[in-house]
Amino acid sequence: QSPAARIAVNGVTYEFDGDVRRSLLDFLRRDLGLTGTKKGCDHGQCGACTVMVNGRRINSCLSLAVMHDGDEVTTIEGLGAADNLSALQKAFVSHDGFQCGYCTPGQICSAAAMMEEIREGWPSFASEDVAGRVHLDDEEIRERMSGNLCRCGAYANILTAIKEVME
Ligand code: FES
Repeated sequence: QSPAARIAVNGVTYEFDGDVRRSLLDFLRRDLGLTGTKKGCDHGQCGACTVMVNGRRINSCLSLAVMHDGDEVTTIEGLGAADNLSALQKAFVSHDGFQCGYCTPGQICSAAAMMEEIREGWPSFASEDVAGRVHLDDEEIRERMSGNLCRCGAYANILTAIKEVME
């Protein structure tokens, strides 16, 4: 009998055959031990659990693991390693884009997916220059990152870090 779902996480395929009510977030954290993804509200309101599924960002607390058969999930662990940080991770460090750090993995996954969305022109309400490059002003970036809350209020530094990588 085949498992309920085969889910690729950071390039490794796992079989899921557990409780159909298990969230993708709990599957990642509790079954796979990928605790970089955080559980804040568990109700789709804070964005701490943001991961990328097939390149799109979702709140993993609101999604059931069993729904992700054949999907490719990327978590913060898949974006870089302690000795090999991504450009976004480095920018968050150099600009103090966090205080307690709890929201940081979700912020970075969300920002990485946002940049992918922009590269694909989806959905676009940004202005383009003559070369067709997309330019987002601060307000547009804040709007696109508005699903990720930071209770420490590090928003200004988060914005600076994201803009550095986007430029
Ligand atoms: Fe998923 Fe808060 S833990 S949105």
